[in-house]
Amino acid sequence: MARLDGRVAIITGAGSGIGRAAARLFAREGARVGVADVNRERAETVAASINDTGGEALAIACDVTKGADCERMVADTVKRFGRLDVMYNNAGISPMGLVHEMSEADWRKVIDVCLTGVFLGTRHALPHLMKQGGVVINTASIAGITGQPGLPHYCAAKHGVIGFTKVVALDYAKYKVRAVAICPGAVVTNIGESMGISVDPNVTRQLGAALHPLGRACEPEDIANAALFLASDEAALISGVILTVDGAWTCGHTFPVPGQQ
Ligand SMILES: NC(=O)c1ccc[n+]([C@@H]2O[C@H](COP(=O)([O-])OP(=O)(O)OC[C@H]3O[C@@H](n4cnc5c(N)ncnc54)[C@H](O)[C@@H]3O)[C@@H](O)[C@H]2O)c1
Repeated sequence: MARLDGRVAIITGAGSGIGRAAARLFAREGARVGVADVNRERAETVAASINDTGGEALAIACDVTKGADCERMVADTVKRFGRLDVMYNNAGISPMGLVHEMSEADWRKVIDVCLTGVFLGTRHALPHLMKQGGVVINTASIAGITGQPGLPHYCAAKHGVIGFTKVVALDYAKYKVRAVAICPGAVVTNIGESMGISVDPNVTRQLGAALHPLGRACEPEDIANAALFLASDEAALISGVILTVDGAWTCGHTFPVPGQQ
């Protein structure tokens, strides 16, 4: 028996990077998956790749900053697959900027996608999750637990996601709904696009290797594997947890210890 047999999941930002890896992995583990992305073509490509390889997926065009889109995303998934067990709020953007130069619009855009989008996905999923129990998985970031230079709006949003996750864990435990947040370190994805830059994956790999004491960057599958565990029954008593997948980046600073190799 696969780890998500019989389950239905929605993943936002599933057209690329972490969300795409999670959609494919969840489908291989038996879940039927709503593949949601603001970029319809990407969502369709990922859903088709799942359907072509024996899985079941529904492509959904959804801008997570719009309540009506999120409501339709959940309704279409439940209409197609009959239930909802996992709401994985993963969509995010990460443009850089300094506070004294930042426009109000730039600030609001990041808060809208990275924080309000998590609220809206959760808001519309909960009535379905509460029927039989389920899990909300939110993609936060190490920027949700540490300050990261050049990312004031992103850090504010991701810290907010962590607080939000904890409250959902408390308020919905009585409905057997769990809520968890994952904090990835440096992941080799297309997130640079949202910074307006094209990042060579090998540069991210080098950066990750330098930043992560474990010596390599995260691949999207590293995060998807953590999400799979948290979505599965193996994590039945895990709620409110903030799980870093960052190769020990946020543990502290390493330095040569005198007398040790
Ligand atoms: N890549 C990293 O190093 C890293 C580190 C920590 C956290 N994260 C977080 O991981 C999540 C996934 O990012 P990724 O690295 O896979 O990036 P990515 O750019 O590869 O994928 C993000 C996807 O989200 C979609 N998206 C953007 N705005 C959206 C919106 N308004 N509505 C719906 N979809 C939208 C994009 O079209 C894209 O397909 C984000 O929340 C990001 O903040 C990434």
